[in-house]
Amino acid sequence: MNKLLVSLLLTLGITGVAHAAGDAAAGQAKTAVCGACHGPDGNSMAPNFPKLAGQGEKYLEKQLHDIKSGKRQVLEMTGMLTNLSDQDLADIAAYFASQKGSVGAADPKVVARGEELFRGGKLDQGMPACTGCHSPNGTGNAAAGFPHLGGQHAQYVAKQLTDFREGNRTNDGDTMVMRSIAGKLSNKDIEAVSSYIQGLH
Ligand code: HEC
Ligand code: HEC
Repeated sequence: MNKLLVSLLLTLGITGVAHAAGDAAAGQAKTAVCGACHGPDGNSMAPNFPKLAGQGEKYLEKQLHDIKSGKRQVLEMTGMLTNLSDQDLADIAAYFASQKGSVGAADPKVVARGEELFRGGKLDQGMPACTGCHSPNGTGNAAAGFPHLGGQHAQYVAKQLTDFREGNRTNDGDTMVMRSIAGKLSNKDIEAVSSYIQGLH
C-alpha cells in the first residue's frame, strides 16, 4: 500500500465518529428478537421490513443509535434497543454486515426510467445521480456510511424516499442530503427508482 493511502486511511479512522469495534459472533447472540421481522440472517421476507444483511457496518450502527435515541422513529421497534449498550449495537451491526444480502427483481415496466434516475439523476433540476454516493452497483460506500441499496425491498426504499421528501425521516444530517434529493422526486420517480434498486446487484 502506498504512503498516501495509508495516511488517508489513518485520517479517516481518526476523524471518524469514535465507535467500539463490533464483534459479529457476539452480535448474532443478541439478534434473536430482530429475526422475527428482519430474518435471522438479516434477509427479511416482508417488503416493509428492511433487509439488513450485507449492509455497511458504520451505517447500521448509526441507524441503531438514531432509532434508540428517537432521532429516527421506528414505531415497530419501540423499546427494543433501550437496554442495549453501545457495544451491543456495535456487535449487532457487525453481525448483519457480515451476512450475505439477497437480491430481488425489478418491474420490467419501470426499469428503464429507474435506471435513468439512478445513473443519471435529474441534472436539469440539479439532482445528482444516486451512483455518486451509493455506487454504480448499489453497494454504497461502507467507510463513508453511505448505505448499500442493491437488492433492498422496493416497498421499503419507496417509503424511505417518501419519508425523506415529506420530512418524516430527518436523520440524514445537517447537509439534508437525502431530503434535498428526495424533494426532486415525484411519486412515479420513486416507484421506478425503488423497483430498479430491488433488482440491482
Ligand atoms: C416488529 C418488527 C421489527 C423488529 C422485531 C425489529 N425491527 Fe428493525 N425495523 C423494523 C421496521 C418496520 C423498520 C423500518 C421502519 C421505516 O420504515 O423506516 C426497521 C428498521 C431497522 C433498521 C434500519 C435499516 C435501514 O436500512 O436503515 C435497523 C438497523 C434495524 N431495524 C435493526 C433492528 C434490530 C437490531 C432489531 C432487534 C434488536 C430489530 N430491528 C427489530 C421492524 C422491526
Ligand atoms: C451525496 C450523496 C448521496 C446521493 C447522491 C444519494 N444519496 Fe441516498 N443516502 C445518502 C446518505 C449519506 C444516506 C444515509 C442517511 C442516514 O445516515 O440516515 C442515504 C440514504 C438513502 C436511503 C435510505 C437507505 C435505508 O436503508 O434506509 C435511500 C433509500 C437512498 N439513500 C436512496 C437514494 C437514491 C434513490 C438516490 C438517487 C436518486 C440517492 N439516494 C442519492 C447519500 C446520498
